[in-house]
Amino acid sequence: MSGQKTPKKYGWNTPVTAVGPPGGAMLRNLKNIVSDPLNYLEATWTEFGDVIQFPIPKPATYLVTSPEGAREVLVNQHNATSKRTLQYNNLSLVTGEGLLTADTQAWRPRRRMLQPAFHKEMIALSMHHIEAGLSKLDSHWNELTEEGPAIVDMDHAMMTLALEITCGALFGINVDDEVDEITAATLIALHGVVARARNPISVPLFIPTPANLKMKRAIKRLDKAVEAILSSRALNKLPDDAPIRDMLDVLLDPDLEIPLTKQQIRDEIATFIVAGHETVASALTWAWHLLVTNPDELQKLKSDPMRAQQVFDESLRLYPPAWVITRRTLSDITVDDVLIPANSLVIVSPWLVHRNPKAWESPTKFMPDRFASGAPQLGYIPFGAGARLCIGKEMARLEGAKILAHIATHWNVEAIHASPVPIDASVTLRPEAGMPIRISRLLN
Ligand code: HEM
Repeated sequence: MSGQKTPKKYGWNTPVTAVGPPGGAMLRNLKNIVSDPLNYLEATWTEFGDVIQFPIPKPATYLVTSPEGAREVLVNQHNATSKRTLQYNNLSLVTGEGLLTADTQAWRPRRRMLQPAFHKEMIALSMHHIEAGLSKLDSHWNELTEEGPAIVDMDHAMMTLALEITCGALFGINVDDEVDEITAATLIALHGVVARARNPISVPLFIPTPANLKMKRAIKRLDKAVEAILSSRALNKLPDDAPIRDMLDVLLDPDLEIPLTKQQIRDEIATFIVAGHETVASALTWAWHLLVTNPDELQKLKSDPMRAQQVFDESLRLYPPAWVITRRTLSDITVDDVLIPANSLVIVSPWLVHRNPKAWESPTKFMPDRFASGAPQLGYIPFGAGARLCIGKEMARLEGAKILAHIATHWNVEAIHASPVPIDASVTLRPEAGMPIRISRLLN
């Protein structure tokens, strides 16, 4: 712990209730905080411990990194917290008030309504789209490797595949011709979200700065994708006796308890495009990085594709796409014996919780075997926890495992980069300059 004296208040009457870096040190580190937030958070945690208060007067800002602390915030104190944080407010510029950003009152009936669209049959239906996506990937890679090994950007390949699967499974639409445009628009829009969250004086979106214009263009492109999804369904309605209703069918149902307005339908479709594909793609990209840099594990997966679930779960531990989860406290709460007053920003970091030796043995080691008997309840939060647990968790886990198993057993994949690959900690974790990987055909 630092020996420096901390003030009793950080201004605006914000009390100091936990240890943390002094203001001067944080200011001096500002460049590092913006350029390498993961490293900064990790160093701060190593120095100060599991619950930290940053020297920020408004809102009082806390970092929670212990397994129990994360659980306290996300599960036990669900009713004492809200999603009205700067991070979620910025995200809602892109997704509107969809399920991910909506606050408790609007969220509760919506979650109840949308949950059935993720029932078992629907997840099984996703299999069809996973297989279709993989067969397209095989054809594409077959062309690329006609003359011998080829180098592919696994990050781009996984983004494309995940978007095709999300749009196919949830909205019954084939996005073939538009895949690159939609993934690019998603990334630009999310990049704008992060840039705004990191800049305390970001300019309102209606003011036409170059960054705002770029973000608005990306949002418009996403809106176009939403419109294409809606008009495709208007032309190809599901038959009344269709055995499985997909997400779009649920959103458009006029007999819902509270039928959705046009804007609400738009917001949910945008939410599912954004939340459902970049996260899965990020997880898969890092899984490939881990596999090609740990050839023994890749070999084990090739000989036993049933290990794919463990590999995917362990990759999510080391590279949780949602590396921070934020909440605002509605009343005073206590986390690991630290009082966190009402109206504070609480940052729960899966990146750090997953590296906490209180929950994990050799935390930085890639060891899929640790998931052989399932995921632990405490200290593993790649999908969040409690009432706001990811609604797409099971779909994502199925998708992740099937894709890893298929590619590992149909292709040779090899590292090009010497690790480590620099990480861009945006809304999700992404490789800074793509993830080039060498692929070649298997010798029969
Ligand atoms: C590996 C992939 C994924 C990861 C790591 C992930 C992560 C998360 C996390 C951490 C949350 C909770 C956020 C919070 O508590 O503030 C969340 C919520 C959510 N996720 Fe995912 N997700 C993934 C895949 C998906 C997929 C495939 C979908 C949709 C098809 C999806 C849709 C959502 C939605 C709608 C929410 C909000 C749920 C609610 O509040 O009721 N996610 N996700």
